[in-house]
Amino acid sequence: MILVTGGAGFIGSNFVLDWLRHGNEPVVNLDKLTYAGNLRNLDALADDRRHQFVRGDIGDRDLVLSLLRRERIRAVVHFAAESHVDRSIHAPEDFIQTNVVGTFRLLEAVRAHWSDLPPDAAQDEPSRARFRFVHVSTDEVYGTLAPEDPPFTETTPYQPNSPYAASKAASDHLVRSFHHTFGIPVVTTNCSNNYGPFQFPEKLIPLCIHNALAGRPLPIYGDGQQVRDWLYVEDHTAAIRTVLDRGMPGETYNVGGWNEKPNLEVVRTLCSILDELAPRRDGRSYADQITFVTDRPGHDRRYAIDARKVERSLGWRPRETFESGIRRTVRWYLDHAEWVADVTSGGYREWIAKHYSAATTSRG
Ligand code: NAD
Ligand code: TYD
Repeated sequence: MILVTGGAGFIGSNFVLDWLRHGNEPVVNLDKLTYAGNLRNLDALADDRRHQFVRGDIGDRDLVLSLLRRERIRAVVHFAAESHVDRSIHAPEDFIQTNVVGTFRLLEAVRAHWSDLPPDAAQDEPSRARFRFVHVSTDEVYGTLAPEDPPFTETTPYQPNSPYAASKAASDHLVRSFHHTFGIPVVTTNCSNNYGPFQFPEKLIPLCIHNALAGRPLPIYGDGQQVRDWLYVEDHTAAIRTVLDRGMPGETYNVGGWNEKPNLEVVRTLCSILDELAPRRDGRSYADQITFVTDRPGHDRRYAIDARKVERSLGWRPRETFESGIRRTVRWYLDHAEWVADVTSGGYREWIAKHYSAATTSRG
């Protein structure tokens, strides 16, 4: 049995679905169900006894420890986090509480459980030697790159620039220290920007698909030339399964798709796929809705991942190109209008009104 934290969020729910498609080992899914957590992402598992959902906070050490012990957990995959950079600019406190304090308390519970396990045991039985704590982190901990810089490797110094990135960097350091000091078999992944089904429409790609179809502006921060390295979410979940299976304790692995794209190009690509699959009634392109807005403070210019370590030492490779992955993603959002309508009510509208109201705009 494995414990997944944050398994009702975007990547976590994709991971849980993917895990149970590829095997039979049951999952306990611990999630607080913040605005970003949505049980509808897991509808396909409604009658599946291999999936057990528990609503709770990773910072609740007693709850976590009782789950670890009761379910004889042999591995933890830690996704739970506050994940949106813009929210970390408006309200950083939650990021410190969940990403730093929450991860610390989770680690403390894991340490107590792990210390009680036998040193070694048969296959499928939890033991100290076979236990794994997989910490899912981000490339944003490395800071920003200039256009000619080489991509981030596992030895690039940490230079986090947003409160989100700083809180994830702090959690990475805590995870590392629990390996070096206490011997917990941890593995950390630092992944680039993900996209795909179930991504909350506050992030660039689902936000622009949603706004395009609703006839609203597609907000591009600054000049739109900031570069992100995009990875289809199923390629990320496959990388995490690989790292859980074969990653070396104490190691970190950078995960990315070698898909660097400026934001404006990403949004133009989305518009042309939408023009083809769901054309506007007036016959014009969705690209007419592109609107330049005030830049994000401290906006990192470029992220890029050197994924050679995970590719060469563990044999993982992304399957989707950006072109195939983005088409699948647009189709998914077109086919799941109900899911989008469900998550874009109430609190979502407040966030959009607050965050984008002050932005000065010009049409692109
Ligand atoms: P998300 O915001 O979609 O989901 C986060 C989930 O964590 C939600 O279900 C939420 O309810 C849950 N959660 C939040 N606080 C919690 C708490 N205190 N206790 C229990 N559950 C809590 O995030 P995501 O995009 O799926 O990201 C998942 C992880 O992957 C994060 O750690 C993030 O830093 C990392 N990551 C994300 C990306 C990306 O592009 N989205 C890229 C690299 C790494
Ligand atoms: P985002 O999806 O928030 O991910 P991250 O900040 O973690 O990289 O943003 C991706 C890029 O898109 C980033 O450079 C910021 C930019 N962006 C916009 O231009 N407009 C928007 O409305 C949003 C949400 C993001």
